[in-house]
Parts: sequence; structure tokens; C-alpha cells
Amino acid sequence: MDTYQPLRTAVATVFALVVLAAIAGGIVVYFGLYNVAATHEHANVLYHLLHTVMRRSVGARADDIPVPNLDSPHRLDNGFVLFREHCVQCHGAPGVSPRAFAFGLRPAPPDLVPPAKDWPPSHLYWVIKYGVKMTAMPAWEYQVSEQELWDLTAFIKRLPTLSPADYRQWNTRLPPTGNTAVANALPSSRIGNVMAGRRAIDEYLCATCHQIPGVVGGDSTVGPPLAGIGTRKYIGGTLSNSPENMLRWLRDPQQVKPDSAMPNLHIREQDARDIAAYLYTLNQTSPQ
Ligand code: HEC
Ligand code: HEC
Repeated sequence: MDTYQPLRTAVATVFALVVLAAIAGGIVVYFGLYNVAATHEHANVLYHLLHTVMRRSVGARADDIPVPNLDSPHRLDNGFVLFREHCVQCHGAPGVSPRAFAFGLRPAPPDLVPPAKDWPPSHLYWVIKYGVKMTAMPAWEYQVSEQELWDLTAFIKRLPTLSPADYRQWNTRLPPTGNTAVANALPSSRIGNVMAGRRAIDEYLCATCHQIPGVVGGDSTVGPPLAGIGTRKYIGGTLSNSPENMLRWLRDPQQVKPDSAMPNLHIREQDARDIAAYLYTLNQTSPQ
């Protein structure tokens, strides 16, 4: 009598189930059975599963973030200005509809009143900073400062108390100035942090045009491959390769070479320094 027989049967059953699930998954993928059209929301079960995955993921990462004082009037004013510039287009506001394109997004951008009521400030801050993968919710880490992330959090926490008239009044008191661009500081040759640069490269979507060693998704040949850029003699074929020139190039390629096909990505100064630090680790011409 084999005492391990029941165990073996159980293992074999589990194995068979895993194989069957993989085959079923493969069939769904291969025959294109899942409809990716953004005209319909995800299937109900999937929608709730994804929402729960998002909430648990945020909670696991944001619970311990210390929250600064969110009550200062200056902070709320600034939060409002940032919200009007970056968020209302998708999320709407009291008495303000989202813009037309937002109605075509799936998952749809939610009204922020319920999460403003239910979520702790650290969770809101985390979602604004890092965004949500595979949704239209962008990460704002590289677009606004740390201080401003909390200004936005403070304003969103206040949303449930605002009537449409309050929001209009805020809008009149702080009219849009039209020009929020921050003047570019003169580059110096100080380069930044390699790890931060690696992340900023994802953030500015460099791999949509360049093959970059160590960066997933880069198989585009719109721009030259960046393997070996650290030891290349010229940048863009014209500018001698120095940290100072690399910063100039990254922040405004057309200022260096007016007909360059590399766009000005409005890279913030610190991000450009960090990206340069990463690029200077790429000193082998064939991909590692
Ligand atoms: C291009 C559209 C878009 C813009 C712009 C945008 N968001 Fe979002 N946002 C979304 C979508 C879509 C979701 C839903 C993500 C999901 O379902 O996991 C979301 C989710 C959120 C959430 C989590 C709430 C929830 O219930 O899922 C918060 C908080 C949030 N956004 C705040 C902001 C702030 C603050 C800004 C401006 C700095 C902003 N969003 C700009 C599309 C956008
Ligand atoms: C829309 C496409 C596009 C995006 C996005 C883009 N680039 Fe470029 N890049 C180009 C093109 C095209 C060139 C070649 C330009 C030229 O020589 O005039 C170039 C050239 C360069 C060069 C000089 C390469 C050499 O061989 O001299 C560097 C460095 C560079 N890009 C880095 C970056 C980084 C870092 C990012 C992200 C922050 C980025 N690029 C985003 C298109 C792009």
C-alpha cells in the first residue's frame, strides 16, 4: 500500500487544473476574445477585481506616509490652481463637467468626492504622485513638486464641502493667469542620481523613440539607439559630448539643432540632471 498515493493524486489534480487554466487563458488571448474597446466598461467582475487590486496596492504602500498640515489657506489656494490646471479636465468639479475626451476613457475617471471622503490623505497623495497603471490616471511626480502634491491632496480633501457656487467663487478669486511655465534655469554641468534618472526615463517616455539599454519597451528607431551614448563623441551629431551639453540637449534639443526631430519634452532641471547621470552609465555600444 502506497501511503503517499492521496498526496500524489492531489498534486496531479492541482497540476492538471493549472494547465487547463493556462490553456483557457491562452485561448482567450490568442483568439482575441477579450474586447479591449473603450466604448464599454470592463466586465463587472474584472472592474471590481481591478478596483480592489488598486485600493489594496495603494494601501500597502501609502499607510505609513506622514501627512503634513493640510489646513493652511495658502496650501488650499495653490491646490485649487493646480487642480484647475491638471485635473478638472478628467475628473470634473462641483458644477463643472469633465472635458469631452474624458467621457471616452475606460476605466472612467471617477468623481473625486467619494474617495475624498473615504480615503486617508496619504492614499490620495500616493495615487496623485504615482498614478495608476493601465488607466488614464497619470503620475504627477515629475510634473509638480512634492509640496504641490500635498497642496492637491489638501484641496481634494476639501472637495466634498464645496458647492458649485463655492467652486465658481474660488475661480473668480484666483483667475487663470494663462502662463504657468516656469522659467528654465541656466544649466550647469552637475549631473544627478542614476536611479532617479532611470525612473525619469520611463516618465518622459524616452523609450517611445529610443532603444535604451535597461529600459523595457524600447524597440523604436525614431531616434538613435542610446547604447554607448556615454562615450560617444557628439550629441545629435553636432554638440561635443559633455555633461553640460547633454543637459542643454535634453532640455531643449531645437535650441542646439533647430531642425532636430527630438521634441522639447519640458524636462525639469533636476530630472534632466538625473537622466544625464543614467545616460553616462551607458558606455558600451552593443546592448548589455
Ligand atoms: C487623463 C485623465 C486624468 C487626469 C488628467 C487625472 N486623472 Fe485622476 N484618475 C483618472 C482615472 C481614469 C482614474 C481611475 C483609476 C482607476 O480606476 O484605478 C483616476 C483616479 C484618480 C484618483 C483615485 C480615485 C478613485 O476612486 O479611483 C485620484 C485621487 C485622482 N485620480 C486624482 C487626480 C488628480 C489630483 C489629478 C490632477 C493632478 C488627476 N487625477 C488627473 C484619470 C485622470
Ligand atoms: C518623439 C521622439 C523622441 C523622444 C520622445 C525622445 N527622443 Fe531623443 N532623439 C530623438 C531623435 C529623432 C533624435 C536624433 C535627433 C537629431 O540628431 O537631430 C534624438 C536624439 C537624442 C540624443 C542624442 C543621441 C545621439 O546619438 O547623439 C539623446 C542623448 C537623446 N535623444 C535622449 C533622449 C532622452 C533621454 C529622452 C527622454 C527624456 C528622449 N531622447 C526622448 C527623438 C526622441
